Amino acid sequence: MTQQLRPNGSLRHLITLEGLDRGLIERLLDRAQSYVRPLDERPLSASLLEGITVANLFGEPSTRTRASFELAARRLGAEVVNLEVHLSSRTKGETILDTVYTLQAMHLDVLVLREAEAGVPGYVADHVAPHVSVLSAGEAHLSHPTQGLLDALTIRQRKGDLRRLKVAIVGDIEHSRVARSAFHVLDALGVGEIRIVAPEAFMPRGEEFPGCPRLRSIEDGIRGVDVIMMLRIQKERMADAAVPDAAAYFAQFGLSRARLGLAARDAIVMHPGPMNRGIEIESEVADGPQSVILQQVSNGVAVRMAVLEAVTGRR
Ligand code: NCD
Repeated sequence: MTQQLRPNGSLRHLITLEGLDRGLIERLLDRAQSYVRPLDERPLSASLLEGITVANLFGEPSTRTRASFELAARRLGAEVVNLEVHLSSRTKGETILDTVYTLQAMHLDVLVLREAEAGVPGYVADHVAPHVSVLSAGEAHLSHPTQGLLDALTIRQRKGDLRRLKVAIVGDIEHSRVARSAFHVLDALGVGEIRIVAPEAFMPRGEEFPGCPRLRSIEDGIRGVDVIMMLRIQKERMADAAVPDAAAYFAQFGLSRARLGLAARDAIVMHPGPMNRGIEIESEVADGPQSVILQQVSNGVAVRMAVLEAVTGRR
């Protein structure tokens, strides 16, 4: 496994939240919180990362993650370059490392990678020059660490003490890096109960999500919970024949207003986006008073500022 910390204990790469200690996570969240601004105020702008160059390499589609990494870097004064490069070992003739060394020769400090192929961010991190950091912006179905952090920050803002909370992660868990990173961060932060709620076809196999109750009905799964994290059905990670019929899925597992009534009265509803309205979530819920979906997006920029600042050691 890739060594994410420097010998002095500071964060160098962020590939996964698995195994990160609680103190480090809390410091990142505190720092991110200091970057949050009300939407009617101008966003913070600083020169902390002046002279630093960040490269966004997205091998899979992304709107909010890519935009928020870019804005986070620019608002701290870094230079940003967005490259249409696929680091997948299956594409082009050039090896992953040729691409990385080419970029390094242009004096890049941070590589932000999104890849459909498992293992690429860690492999790159293991081979970059000592001054270069690698941040995963989503690795296959495995990990999406900055999403996990922004989800934790959002929950902390709305709910305060996490120890007594009941959180339900609902939907296509099997194919979801968002669910895995949420589990890692909420587990590290000591959340009281993390439920895995999925129809049989989307229930993860094996030893993952240790200690989490597994529920196969959404009604049982969200009853009494404080936080509902809905997930997108990841069609791109399943065979066409496995993609459920939209109407049937909504009837069985969609978050409707009626079902939301089963959760705690002040429960919050989350979704990483992009949403399939009317499939995993009803529009009335997505846009309703319990939804914190746009707050998650705002927090995404703040979290990525904190992570960029941490790995470049400019504090
Ligand atoms: C997620 C992703 O791409 O992993 N979206 C995001 O980063 N905001 C979740 C998803 O695509 O379902």
